Amino acid sequence: SSVPSVPPPRVRPQPVLGPPARAAVFLVVTVDPGGETPAREVLAELPALERALAFPHPEGRLSCVAGVGAPAWDRLYGVPRPAALHPFRELSGPRHHAVATPGDLLFHIRAARPDLCFALTAEIMKRLRGAATVQDETQAFAYYDARNLLGFVDGTENPAGADAAEAALIGDEDPEFRGGSYAIVQKYLHDVAAWEGLTTEEQERIVGRTKATGLELDAPGSHKDVNTVLGPDGAEQRILRAAMPFGRPGRGEFGTYFIAYARDPQLTETMLRRMFLGTPAGGPDPLLDFSRAVTGTLFFVPSADLLQDLSEHGKPR
Ligand code: HEM
Repeated sequence: SSVPSVPPPRVRPQPVLGPPARAAVFLVVTVDPGGETPAREVLAELPALERALAFPHPEGRLSCVAGVGAPAWDRLYGVPRPAALHPFRELSGPRHHAVATPGDLLFHIRAARPDLCFALTAEIMKRLRGAATVQDETQAFAYYDARNLLGFVDGTENPAGADAAEAALIGDEDPEFRGGSYAIVQKYLHDVAAWEGLTTEEQERIVGRTKATGLELDAPGSHKDVNTVLGPDGAEQRILRAAMPFGRPGRGEFGTYFIAYARDPQLTETMLRRMFLGTPAGGPDPLLDFSRAVTGTLFFVPSADLLQDLSEHGKPR
């Protein structure tokens, strides 16, 4: 009997597949010159912080996923990049623009209660003060029956269970980064006044689903249609979305914070190209006439094990 010499595969993911949340904070920061050490340290400490804050409130289901942008990966760790890690690619169509905005670290914090998200955000920021610049901090919430602020049920067609893992987590295609994922985030602001000027039937043709119950409609050119991407085998290719509404009605702000996890960001990018530039069969996504992207960033989400290894053995430059 021989002792196995191969180390166990790094497969313990971060809580990418996390339970549906009632509250979330999306925190995107850039690491200031000289802030690399505190940045590495907060990533290393994250599981402990999360455990400490979550433990007294198991019903609160606090979780945090951390992502690292392409330029930050090289600065923080100086080890080879995951195969598909690159900066978000800006898209300029005839009518719509998907901006690329700075972001070295993403913290996607979820819980059943907003206070737990707030507490973890505050602990992270305490450690990053003077070392990082906040690019965006969005506090988001689940709205009615998982609806977005356009009034439609959002997330219906998301893969669940083993399908979610299959869609979101890197496997043998990039063995060193197995259990990781790629996150693309975009913060959207809606023109709610214009949207409310439409009839329910017009809105349903744009989304491709019924408003009351979220049932599928045959609606060519709809958001649903534009985002139905088939693989070579004819099966629908899936990303894992965890978008959440946010807003400040007092300022006329109504938005959707979009986040998609995928084992290959090319799939999300294909969807974005179809939405912003158009499909071979038709125009861009009609939802974009009522939704403007104000941020856009791509992050690599290491597995929990890799994040720990990197913090302990990463090669700071
Ligand atoms: C489906 C809203 C942005 C990809 C949907 C649905 C709604 C919705 C209401 C139907 C219910 C569901 O299956 O979840 C929105 C809003 C967005 C947005 C308000 C931001 C303004 C995006 C973006 C992408 C995307 C940026 C991809 C990059 C998808 C996909 C589906 C979907 C893949 C499922 C299609 C299907 O198979 O039925 N979205 N979405 N969405 N959306 Fe979005």
